[in-house]
Amino acid sequence: MSPSTPSGAPVAATLKDGKTIEPVREILWGNASGVRKYETANEVPADMRKLLVKLMVVQADTEFASIQQHRPWLDAAPTLEDRWIEARIVADEARHGLQACRILRDFGEEGQELIDDLLAKREGEHKLDAFNMKFERWSDVGAFTCLVDRVGVYQLRAFQECSYGPLARAMPLMLSEEQLHLNFGASVLRRMAQDGPNYYGTKEEAQAAVRKWYPRALDMFGHSNSETSRRAIEYGLKRWTNDEARQRFTDEVRGLLHGMGIELPPDDFDRHVL
Ligand SMILES: [Fe+2]
Ligand SMILES: [Fe+2]
Repeated sequence: MSPSTPSGAPVAATLKDGKTIEPVREILWGNASGVRKYETANEVPADMRKLLVKLMVVQADTEFASIQQHRPWLDAAPTLEDRWIEARIVADEARHGLQACRILRDFGEEGQELIDDLLAKREGEHKLDAFNMKFERWSDVGAFTCLVDRVGVYQLRAFQECSYGPLARAMPLMLSEEQLHLNFGASVLRRMAQDGPNYYGTKEEAQAAVRKWYPRALDMFGHSNSETSRRAIEYGLKRWTNDEARQRFTDEVRGLLHGMGIELPPDDFDRHVL
C-alpha cells in the first residue's frame, strides 16, 4: 500500500536500499501543471478517470500474464540460481499486479468488475501480443526479461511523479524490482552468447530469441500517432510520447546487445503496431 499519514497526505517512500524519496505534491507537467496532485479516485476529472483506469487495466494485465508465462520455468530453469530468480520474478509480478489492482479498487464497483475480469484471463487472452506468447525455450525467458521487462521499465518511468499521487508513489519500488528482472534477462543472454553450452544453449539461440521478441517489445509502446498517449501527457500521467520512449529504448538495447555480440533486427521487422 502507498505510504500515507492518517490524514491521507503522502509521506516519503523508503526503498529496499534504505534511500527515501520525498513525494512531490504538485502536478509537474500537462494542463494542470502546478496544481496539487489528485490523491483519490473522486478527485480525478471524469475524462482523465477513464484513461487512468484503462492504463491500470493494461498494467495489471501484463503483470498477471507474465506470471503465466514464467510459471513453467520455475522448476525447469537451468541452474538453481536461475530457478530462484524465476521464483522472485513471479512474486514481484504478482505484487505489481496487486499494486495496479489496488488503484483500480479505489474506483469502486467499476474498478472491482475490471479486477474480476483480469483475474479470469487465461493464457492467450491478454491485451498485448508480447504477453500471449509462450516461453518455449530458456532463450525466450532471457530475451523477454531483457527486452519486454525493459519496455515495462520505460512505461513505469513515464508514470514517475505523475499527477495521480497513489500511482506516482508506487513507482520507486516497482522500478527497483523491475531492474532486477531486466538485469537477469541481460545476464541470461550474455551467458548464452559468451559461455554457450558451458552454461546452457548457444549464441545462435540467444540471437534468434532477440529477433523473435524485439518486434513485440517495440509494439508495446503503442501507435506512433496515438491520441491516448497525447492525452496521457496532457493529464500529467505520462511523460513521453510513444515514439520518444520507443527511440530511447532502441538506443539503449542496441548498445547493450551489441556488446554481447547479438544484433537487433531492423526496427520495422515483423512489426504489428506502427
Ligand atoms: Fe512487473
Ligand atoms: Fe518484470
